[in-house]
Amino acid sequence: MLFFMAKKNSSSLPATALSRLIRAAAKARERSVAPYSRFRVGAALLTRSGELITGANVESASYGLTCCAERVALFTALTSGKRDFTAIAVVARAADGPMPCGACRQLLAEYASDAQVLVADSRRLKAVKQFSVRELLPGAFLDFRPA
Ligand code: THU
Repeated sequence: MLFFMAKKNSSSLPATALSRLIRAAAKARERSVAPYSRFRVGAALLTRSGELITGANVESASYGLTCCAERVALFTALTSGKRDFTAIAVVARAADGPMPCGACRQLLAEYASDAQVLVADSRRLKAVKQFSVRELLPGAFLDFRPA
């Protein structure tokens, strides 16, 4: 039985699309390269036309160079010419699912502002929490042009 905790005002994804996206993120997580934290994260983006683009976190011995799964997926998608994202799923072994970090929220606000953000614990893929990008990063910095 698939259930998810959606906010009343969020545009919800059909249950089949949602579970497909979560499973893609869980699969992508298997390719995580996280030898330092051992915290493996997978992400999967969905475009309006139904394409899936995945990514996983990649860590460096110079810790600050680490890139989160969400950004790997987003950068892969953008540099493959994909746009118009309707959802991103993020899966890790984390109670209640992994919440995207601030840097990823900023990038999502810039390039996937209409996407629903779905998070799930890898041990409980059917319990999905759903957020809008706007509620994860209200008042995002989006315009650097001088007035
Ligand atoms: N990480 C992600 O991939 N996504 C998040 O939303 C939070 C953190 C990664 C970065 C690092 O490789 C590991 O999790 C521990 O912070």
